[in-house]
Amino acid sequence: DAIRPLIAGNWKMNGLKASTAEFDAMLNGAAGVAGRADLLVCPPVTLIAAFADRARGKAVVVGAQDCHPKASGAHTGDIAAEMLVDAGASAIIVGHSERRADHGEGDALVKQKAEAARRAGATAIVCIGETQTQRDAGQTLDILRGQLDGSLPDGSTAANLVVAYEPVWAIGTGLTPTAKDVEQIHGFIREFLTASFEADGARMRILYGGSVKPSNAAELMAVKNVNGALVGGASLKAADFLAIARGC
Ligand code: G3H
Repeated sequence: DAIRPLIAGNWKMNGLKASTAEFDAMLNGAAGVAGRADLLVCPPVTLIAAFADRARGKAVVVGAQDCHPKASGAHTGDIAAEMLVDAGASAIIVGHSERRADHGEGDALVKQKAEAARRAGATAIVCIGETQTQRDAGQTLDILRGQLDGSLPDGSTAANLVVAYEPVWAIGTGLTPTAKDVEQIHGFIREFLTASFEADGARMRILYGGSVKPSNAAELMAVKNVNGALVGGASLKAADFLAIARGC
């Protein structure tokens, strides 16, 4: 694969000001892995501005975990993509399965959020993935096709769209699909992207997410059409996050 890998850390609802020391350790180690992969850390929104300031000139960029589809207005408690970019975010995760489950977000809203990220000048990282029940019922590819169809903005480019495949049953469980399964599913996603976005679709990054850790990263990252990882738990520790990047 000629596509440069992206190792993205999703801190989820973890991190206080005291976590700055761990982030600084990531910044310090980043130069050592910059030859292999781009690094992105998505802390909680409260830490984006401070982290982005510290990351300036370093081999880590900062992102966000969600955004509101509108640019501004009467939406108490919500945060617009423009505000996240203003704070220093250059990428925004949208449609994570935890938001789809906890907040009832469907494909149409996820698409609007991805469009909002693009409008604000950020890369949208759109998450898709099947549940255990859907997998057991043999519906995985149908579910993924529906999510891809419904969640990806028209006219997306390799610069403004990243797709993250995260089987819901693999998130935070220690379970991962086999390399063969990942190859089949990422191949399916690649076909969809090239059919939809032509040359750009061939160059878009497709991340794998779900229980990625230093011990399995190299095997997963070597799979065809895996162009990086979306890492949850293991992205909270600089040593683990950097070790995963070294697996690229
Ligand atoms: O966004 C990250 C994923 O949900 C994966 O989380 O690495 O803790 O399984 P995890």
